[in-house]
Amino acid sequence: MAGRRPLISGNWKMHHNHFEAIQAVQKLSYVVSANDLEAVDVSVHPPFTDLRSVQTVIESDEVGIALGAQHCHWEDKGAFTGEVSPSMLAKLNVSLVIVGHSERRELFGETDEDVNRKVKAVLAAGMTPIMCCGETLEEREAGGAVAKVEGQVRAGLDGLKADQVGGLVIAYEPIWAIGTGRTATPEDAQEMCAAVRSTVRDRWGALAADDVRIQYGGSVKPVNAPDLMGQPDIDGALVGGASLDPDEFARIIAYRLVG
Ligand code: PGA
Repeated sequence: MAGRRPLISGNWKMHHNHFEAIQAVQKLSYVVSANDLEAVDVSVHPPFTDLRSVQTVIESDEVGIALGAQHCHWEDKGAFTGEVSPSMLAKLNVSLVIVGHSERRELFGETDEDVNRKVKAVLAAGMTPIMCCGETLEEREAGGAVAKVEGQVRAGLDGLKADQVGGLVIAYEPIWAIGTGRTATPEDAQEMCAAVRSTVRDRWGALAADDVRIQYGGSVKPVNAPDLMGQPDIDGALVGGASLDPDEFARIIAYRLVG
């Protein structure tokens, strides 16, 4: 992976109230090894209501895990009932924000244009976007997976400079693999992550392509993490279900020791 630091991120989705979140992060801090945290960047992305509590645990216990969010609005403030702004997240020392997860796109109607605005707003607030892309099963079966993902990357990152693209994270998550227990084979995941990287190379140049970190997401588990993480264009994992259990998540973070 050409000197890129791996990033393993736990997307908790709508799970864990703030009491459960405190317990989960404390437990994670006990079970994850210091060696792993030296070699691998780790983030957790709890629901909004947990962020302040998790921030407090991470900072007071000096846990070497980054705090992430799952979503935000692109405006800094205003009449947007129910929304949270990038600067509010930055104030809680959130450093990574997932943008354009397929559940946001499919269930809440987020468009590529929305994703692009959010990516820019997250960067402007000094945080790192994890921009998600991925195809449906129908698109894959029709041979359109690469075209779909290429379009999402170009649109989602439109207008960014090469160094901005080099500093962010793209998560390739085939929709048919999310929460289904059906993982892409390491070869298929590699092929798609390589396609994402070559899209970045075509549009933003070789430096951005070499630097951008690309995660695979979709039913990542301790048993499949080593093979996925061993692929040359896969620099990390975006983990949903398996990140809710600290023991399981720690085993994914320890992927280097297996196999
Ligand atoms: P999963 O979710 O690991 O439960 O498949 C991944 C994701 O949606 O980011």
